[in-house]
Amino acid sequence: MSEYQGAKKMTEPTIYPGTVDPKVIVALDFPDADAALHLARALDAGQCRVKVGKELFTRAGPVLVEKLQQLGFDVFLDLKYHDIPNTTAQACRAAAELGVWMVNVHALGGRRMMEAAREAVDKTVHRPLLIAVTILTSLDADELHEVGLSGSPEDNVLRLACLARSSGLDGVVCSPWEVAALRKTVASDFRLVTPGVRPAGTMADDQKRITTPEDAIRLGASYLVVGRPVTRAGNPLVALANINATIN
Ligand code: C5P
Repeated sequence: MSEYQGAKKMTEPTIYPGTVDPKVIVALDFPDADAALHLARALDAGQCRVKVGKELFTRAGPVLVEKLQQLGFDVFLDLKYHDIPNTTAQACRAAAELGVWMVNVHALGGRRMMEAAREAVDKTVHRPLLIAVTILTSLDADELHEVGLSGSPEDNVLRLACLARSSGLDGVVCSPWEVAALRKTVASDFRLVTPGVRPAGTMADDQKRITTPEDAIRLGASYLVVGRPVTRAGNPLVALANINATIN
């Protein structure tokens, strides 16, 4: 049991009665609400969740999140908060009050920031899952050293995942190539959320270290963030169903 779990009364995230637990989170990487809603209406909220990131949220805001939720989707609000503990906590609380299913912060914000975020969402009626970004996969070892982080990217990912865990967070975002090593270190209820997933035979696009959905789940991923293989498919619902068929 982590220090945090030992010290505080834990609340569990809300599980809505009758809902299943779709593993695929479709990344709505669109520039505006109309395009995002058009795709969402072509999907099935019973088969996936959706992710709203910085560009879409900055353009379309909480109204879009509410519309997606009205369509029945659980929303992962991927805004990667990183600020002083009070500011981050209040942002996470606002996200929770918006009703999102999952929200994230940067683990590099430190223990006090993550604990404050956890305490803030614990006080809300529908607590979202609170997860951390460890090291951005865009950073290589030289860039990490330049900002003062020694060790390999993998060492830093493991250390920050453990810090997130002991600060009361529910999981981390990680590359599918990091899943196996992380699973050896963290318990099965610690969510590993992995982008960089490509069904066999589809294009890698700009992703470098990819894994198939079935391999990512087999290695221990909890949820898969999938964008273009679904959003750019001729029939997004069929593409999604095919992914689900390989992992169920
Ligand atoms: O289209 P694709 O499946 O590559 O989209 C992946 C999604 O996951 C995008 O929203 C991207 O920003 C996000 N992501 C990622 N790699 C990370 C973190 C997030 O691809 N390390």
